[in-house]
Amino acid sequence: MSTEQTKPYSSLPVLTQLPNARVFRDERLKALDALASVRDEIGKIEGLAGQVVFVTSPEAVHEVLVSQARCFEKSPVLRMALHPLAGEGLFTSEGALWKRQRKLMSPIFQPNQIKQFASQMADCAQRAADTWSHNQMLDIAHETTRIAMAVAGKTLFDIDTFSESDELEHALTVALTWSGAQAAALPLLLQARLRTRLLLAADHVPAFFADKLHEAAQAMIKPLMIPGESTREVKRALEVLDRRVERMIEERRRGSGSQNDLLSRLLSARDEDDGGTMTDKQVRDEVLTLFVAGHETTATGLAWAIMEMCKNPDVYTKAKEEALALGGPITYDDLPRLTYNLRVFKESLRLYPPVFMFGRQAVADVAISGYTLPKGTIVMLCPYAIQRHPDFYPDPERFDPDRFLPELEAARPRGAYFPFSLGPRTCIGNHFALMEGPIVLATLLRHADFELVNPRGTEPDPGATLRPKGGIFARAKLRN
Ligand code: HEM
Repeated sequence: MSTEQTKPYSSLPVLTQLPNARVFRDERLKALDALASVRDEIGKIEGLAGQVVFVTSPEAVHEVLVSQARCFEKSPVLRMALHPLAGEGLFTSEGALWKRQRKLMSPIFQPNQIKQFASQMADCAQRAADTWSHNQMLDIAHETTRIAMAVAGKTLFDIDTFSESDELEHALTVALTWSGAQAAALPLLLQARLRTRLLLAADHVPAFFADKLHEAAQAMIKPLMIPGESTREVKRALEVLDRRVERMIEERRRGSGSQNDLLSRLLSARDEDDGGTMTDKQVRDEVLTLFVAGHETTATGLAWAIMEMCKNPDVYTKAKEEALALGGPITYDDLPRLTYNLRVFKESLRLYPPVFMFGRQAVADVAISGYTLPKGTIVMLCPYAIQRHPDFYPDPERFDPDRFLPELEAARPRGAYFPFSLGPRTCIGNHFALMEGPIVLATLLRHADFELVNPRGTEPDPGATLRPKGGIFARAKLRN
């Protein structure tokens, strides 16, 4: 549909059911639940830094992420907040650089390339479970974070002792926490708004000035580092990260480090057209990006899966029986016999999508759901809301892994399930996560039974990801 045949932006419905922007920031869960009940396909609210459009139907999601993807880039806020840590890595970059990097990195994440990591995933889960004693009270969210962190350490850097005492892990946590806080901080929101103004102004001035404005906007993707203790702390953490990653790169270039982890694969990746490789700085940005994007998301999905299994004994029994039917440590070849555990993980990502909301910014006027969105419009997409819509998920609050039986999955509209996003910028680690999910769940179920301390479970806390508020406490009843 061309933008001439569509209704103007001014006629977009205002989503009055949604709380105002301040509530959205301060009471996000309330706002997300309100969003899940919105029945308009598209609408707008007044955000902290200007108007924000929400798309709330699978068709509109598909338009933004897939069919009209070329008219959007990622919204600047998260890109800016993550920039000091993830630089120009795959998650934060745009344009030609992103395209080249995606082409270079995609082969590394194909299922046949990552299958060797399956045993390492099982091993990391087993090693965490081996530290538990019978009847020990565990915070499941903490345990799955330990495991996902260990998987990241092993597969990215071939590090076995990637633990909380490790300075690399500490530095990553400091930097991530800082980025999370920045993403909701007013100075950064205002910087993002100013950046958009510069880009829009560039369309109305002679070419020379337009180039200058584009350069200024490009520079503004780096957030202001306002002096203070937290900035000093994050700068120290970033120095640690740079030093450690630099050392690991040197080792691999010398041939003395591991040659089979993701870091070495990034170092040897070649562009199939021009034979080019990545600079060390680009490899540093990618490896930290993969760590950031990969571990907390998976850890959160795993924690919710265990909580919901405990609340649903039938589901628990089926998943446990499937896990116990396998012999020795789980390997890649066991995956076809872990289909129920995979469905449990997918259902967990439906009800509790770790990336519960993410944004795009229009880079040209674009028609979505019959309305013209002018260049610069910020569009929010919310898997949490759409994946709880009763039209696509009857009795949406019920945890039912069989919603992901292949025939039911295939019958659902495109855009009704997108925990990994969709389209060209879909998660590059989705196969990796969908392998790690069932392997870790089955390994843990083989080792112990879990009993929730609070049988009602925990409610979500929408922060950087959709984490369980205050943790998920359960007792581990070890098998012999
Ligand atoms: C359950 C686990 C995971 C979930 C729910 C998840 C979700 C997502 C989502 C929603 C996006 C798109 C965000 C946006 O467009 O704004 C994304 C992108 C990305 N994810 Fe994941 N992710 C998971 C695991 C992983 C893993 C294990 C890795 C790496 C090993 C990874 C690496 C990435 C990267 C590099 C991108 C950026 C891709 C690009 O823009 O080209 N993710 N992820």
